Amino acid sequence: MNLFKAAAKALALAFALCLAASGAQARSFDDIKKDGKIIIATEGQFAPFNFFQGSKLTGFEVELAEAMAAKMGVKFEWKALSFDALLAGLRQDRWDMVIASHGITDERAKAVTFTNPHYCSGGVIIAKDPAIRTAKDLTGKVISVQIGTTYFENVKKVADVKEVKTFPNDTDARAALLTGRVDAWVTDRFVAKASLEANPAGGMKMGDFLFVERIASAVTKGNSPLAGEINKALAAIQADGTYEKISKKWFNEDIRCK
Ligand code: ARG
Repeated sequence: MNLFKAAAKALALAFALCLAASGAQARSFDDIKKDGKIIIATEGQFAPFNFFQGSKLTGFEVELAEAMAAKMGVKFEWKALSFDALLAGLRQDRWDMVIASHGITDERAKAVTFTNPHYCSGGVIIAKDPAIRTAKDLTGKVISVQIGTTYFENVKKVADVKEVKTFPNDTDARAALLTGRVDAWVTDRFVAKASLEANPAGGMKMGDFLFVERIASAVTKGNSPLAGEINKALAAIQADGTYEKISKKWFNEDIRCK
């Protein structure tokens, strides 16, 4: 009886280990090709990179990823989730690729495999008070940022900030500035530019870069063959003018890393 129990226990453990292992099993590019479509996750709350126009997911990164899928010879399926769920879902093999303006950091690179960067940018300081422009000006100030972002990590490093208020969406972090609940908001330079243009009455002013970063898509840690295919597709759209066309449509300039 005891032996039977021990054997059953061992079997259950082996089964659980198998499940865990298969859960971490990312789809190879061959699997994706056979299936015919790549599953891509993004946030959908970060205009003009990834956002909803009504019920339609659109933006620079959405068009870029769709053009890359075409080069890879596969269709695509989008998943839109909260920012903090995106990289975690790669580990659980819930999608093949994430494109949501993630800056390449050492910390993230421990958990996922980054592709080559699809644009270069950085976090800027936005305030209504024109005297708040630089990192030094953040002394004693209350700052809003989206949680889980490099903006949060970099604002935390600034000495003598009074408080960092975090929000699940970048749009809420912006609203906090517009309604006067914080002194400054830190977000992406191109997001800030578009926000300022869309809200001329808001009185927001763009200050300096707090830091710069390279933005890339990510795949499951160790799925280098898939990352390689994505890199090839990115290089192809950068070589044939597709990238430039999409970039100029959204930003009036080519924002690839130089
Ligand atoms: N670039 C920043 C980071 O790497 C922010 C990304 C925010 N993306 C988004 N889809 N809200 O953390």
